[in-house]
Amino acid sequence: MADLEEAPPEVHHYNELYEVPWDIQNYWSQRHRIFSKYDEGIWLTDDAWFGVTAEPVANKIAQDIAEAAPAGRSILIDAFAGAGGNTIAFAKTGKWKRVYAIEKNPAVLKCAKHNAKIYGVDKQITWFEGDCFEILKNQLKDLAPYSIIFASPPWGGPGYRSDEVFNLRTMEPYSLEVLYREYSAFTKHFALFLPRTSDLQQVAKYVPDGCQAPVIHYCMEGHSKALCVFYGNFNMS
Ligand SMILES: C[S@@+](CC[C@H](N)C(=O)[O-])C[C@H]1O[C@@H](n2cnc3c(N)ncnc32)[C@H](O)[C@@H]1O
Repeated sequence: MADLEEAPPEVHHYNELYEVPWDIQNYWSQRHRIFSKYDEGIWLTDDAWFGVTAEPVANKIAQDIAEAAPAGRSILIDAFAGAGGNTIAFAKTGKWKRVYAIEKNPAVLKCAKHNAKIYGVDKQITWFEGDCFEILKNQLKDLAPYSIIFASPPWGGPGYRSDEVFNLRTMEPYSLEVLYREYSAFTKHFALFLPRTSDLQQVAKYVPDGCQAPVIHYCMEGHSKALCVFYGNFNMS
């Protein structure tokens, strides 16, 4: 297991509350729910805490996608791998011939690789450092007919926490329009992990007449954490 000394300076494994910056103390107190193997030496950057998908949610998404994937799709591309919450869960299902994980922040990618080792799934994952839109176009295009994309983009922009209805048009840095355009140019089948209050009218705008785009809320402790929109032909029951 790589030692923390080999990690970039922005990567941490906090053991004690006094070490933890105040704005992530709340997340750190839930560390074992976020990563059940946290104590085995999980790495995160301070920013990654805000975006990581907690393990029970990541596991359920991975199970749902494994069961609902259209026939002939054997590759899972995690376009925004972050610290590896979802990537690890996808690899753990054993469903995919290969999991491809893309992350543009080098320090965060190091965390994901390290965390995948802790979960014993790193050998099933091919890692890419860079921009997912470019990598899909330039390096992964031959895999498109066999692939599904999962994307948990940053949810920046006005109003993620305060607005009753989250405007996917002003989501930053990538609006729903950008995500839909880029991913649908690559594959028919992709799942987007979005804020729980996302404007479903905006989601529906991209669904062809007479077709469906299932929306599933993923919950923990009686609260919706986020929703997943499944574009394409997923066999959701
Ligand atoms: C919400 S986080 C993903 C969290 C991840 N699902 C997890 O469980 O750890 C979004 C990530 O996307 C990365 N990112 C942003 N733009 C990107 C891009 N164009 N290509 C690849 N990664 C990108 C950010 O650095 C950030 O780590």
